[in-house]
Amino acid sequence: MTTATLADVVVEETAKPLIEFSRVEKTYSNGFQAVTPFDLSVDRGEIVSLVGPSGCGKTTVIRMAAGLSKITGGTLTRRTDELAYVFQDPTLLAWRNVRSNVELVAKLKGVDKETRRAAATRAIETVGLSAFEKALPRQLSGGMKMRVSLARAITGSPDLLLMDEPFAALDEFTRATMQRELLRLWRANDFSAMFITHSISEAVTLGHRVVVMASKPGRIAAVLTSPSPPDKGDTPRDEQALAELSSEISAMLAGGER
Ligand SMILES: Nc1ncnc2c1ncn2[C@@H]1O[C@H](COP(=O)(O)OP(=O)(O)OP(=O)(O)O)[C@@H](O)[C@H]1O
Ligand SMILES: [Mg+2]
Repeated sequence: MTTATLADVVVEETAKPLIEFSRVEKTYSNGFQAVTPFDLSVDRGEIVSLVGPSGCGKTTVIRMAAGLSKITGGTLTRRTDELAYVFQDPTLLAWRNVRSNVELVAKLKGVDKETRRAAATRAIETVGLSAFEKALPRQLSGGMKMRVSLARAITGSPDLLLMDEPFAALDEFTRATMQRELLRLWRANDFSAMFITHSISEAVTLGHRVVVMASKPGRIAAVLTSPSPPDKGDTPRDEQALAELSSEISAMLAGGER
């Protein structure tokens, strides 16, 4: 992308989007068209929420972003290999304690012991679990397990966090806490995120933009820019404007189901 500025000076923008979907499609091997031409780019430091009815292709989209599912059309450009994927299920290893679970991905990536220990210590501290480093998953609540999963994801200092309904199984209170936690992590670390959720209010709380998807066939119905996005400072959010955005999304989803 080029931007003309003063007189005839053209400044080349180096900060290209971290990930760009250009007419990306997915047809599964059984012939099912899960995602029809999909265009979206996510900037560095941007959080994009994805909402839409069950089966509209949200998981497929972020699996393609992760390289876990092959695209069958279009072009997908990802300008980093530093990814972390967070699922709805915290997927912790039952026989490993908190620290060991948090260090695991970095260990598998071949990060040396000292570096990963230091990164894990910071991450565990950030999610407020320093007192539970030695605890086993079964000794933790659902919210604590999800914190471990988040700590594990940020231990590798990812550029891009791909999150698939990570808080769906949590009670409402814990979920709100985790949303604040995620934004706090985002303020302290420079990652971008694609965040799938079935909760419109969660999509609006976390997203700089919200992608509303529709099904049959899976596609983007609208991309809405938040009137009061999270920022790096602690600017109070315009709750009224966010509520209006939620209603708009809600109306779109209700209309799209017919
Ligand atoms: N391996 C597969 N083979 C064939 N069809 C598939 C496969 N995986 C997913 N699908 C279909 O693709 C569509 C999109 O699935 P996907 O899991 O991406 O939806 P989703 O939006 O994440 O839904 P949910 O909100 O329920 O998680 C669905 O109709 C699903 O049945
Ligand atoms: Mg899904």
